[in-house]
Amino acid sequence: MYNSIKLSENVHWVGVNDKETDLFESLWPLPEGISYNSYVINDDKVALIDTVKINYTDTYLEKVKDVIGDKKVDYLIINHMEPDHSGSIKSMREAFPEMKIVGNAKTMNFLEGFYGITEGTMVIEDGDELNLGSRTLKFYLTPMVHWPETMMTFDQKDKILFAGDAFGGFGSLNGYLFDDEVNIEYFEDEIRRYFSNIIGKYGPVVHKTISRLRKEIDQIGMVATTHGLVWREDPAHIIDEYDKWSQQQTENGVVVVYGSMYGNTKIMAETVARSLSENGIEQIRLFDVSRKDISYIINDIWKYNGIVLGSCTYNTEIFPPMEYLLKSLESRNLRNRVLGIFGSYSWSGGALDRLKDFKEKVNCNLVEPVIESQFAPSGDILEKCYLLGENVASKVKENN
Ligand code: FEO
Repeated sequence: MYNSIKLSENVHWVGVNDKETDLFESLWPLPEGISYNSYVINDDKVALIDTVKINYTDTYLEKVKDVIGDKKVDYLIINHMEPDHSGSIKSMREAFPEMKIVGNAKTMNFLEGFYGITEGTMVIEDGDELNLGSRTLKFYLTPMVHWPETMMTFDQKDKILFAGDAFGGFGSLNGYLFDDEVNIEYFEDEIRRYFSNIIGKYGPVVHKTISRLRKEIDQIGMVATTHGLVWREDPAHIIDEYDKWSQQQTENGVVVVYGSMYGNTKIMAETVARSLSENGIEQIRLFDVSRKDISYIINDIWKYNGIVLGSCTYNTEIFPPMEYLLKSLESRNLRNRVLGIFGSYSWSGGALDRLKDFKEKVNCNLVEPVIESQFAPSGDILEKCYLLGENVASKVKENN
């Protein structure tokens, strides 16, 4: 017997929890696991919304059968083709050969490319509807939230928005499913880490999509994502949070990140951090870029309005782990932050040049002084670091 969970009389969660995968997309740590959410609408016609990762197909199929009994699946609606959701499509087609696979024109391209499926499909366009008997589903194409083929499906009877990756988060579902069954504060960091790592690059599209949904759907009664909680009690909360993050709206606080081989750049960073504290900043995050996984650093940078980046030079260039962070922030179009930078070197410069180049690529407000230190930091250099902390603190406080 496999447990499904009811969202409403005829809508069931049939997702699975993944506590075995260490790195999502082979990049992002999953210390709390992740869920792949799929839903069955058991109306006159039976529709599935998305599937689950291939590793969990057997469990998933049993869950579906447990809900629908002897009935067949009529439609498999594919909101998103990334394999964490599409991985079980082939098996579902084998189990239900008559099932129509529903998606938009771009979905079909992915469907053939990933799984060689070209038959038994139904191509829908933006705004199209599909009647299942007592309810009608409406489709909203939402390209680039997170891939080009992504779309959302709205159940007009039960007012459930099946949103794909949007409004999702890291963290498996440990017995609970709904927002009103947990302490949301506990989940905020893992949800924001998911947003900033996976969706953050597409913030402007997410914002545009949310604006459209707000305009076109009178009442979203429930938000059912592909990852994490189903928002039943307060769907507006997660929509508002996603909208805020998509526009890079932040809170007062400073993330200080340093790359240091022998501790000299670390001392500079710690001096900046102490100064921030003495100058009234209560939220300070200090990270060694070599030792803190980048996904957590990006998460905090998405939360706060100040960043200070300091790096040593390595083989005439910036320290490689710092380069990874800079590239990741550039690709996410970081903007609207108070920014401080400092570099260090022993026998050749390089780090500070790259940090200055980073400043040119992101739309952030650079705060003086820009500092470069040779060998161990002198008293004069540390005084400048203290001044940098003072100036960053002052800008951060006037920012909000
Ligand atoms: Fe959860 Fe973009 O896949």
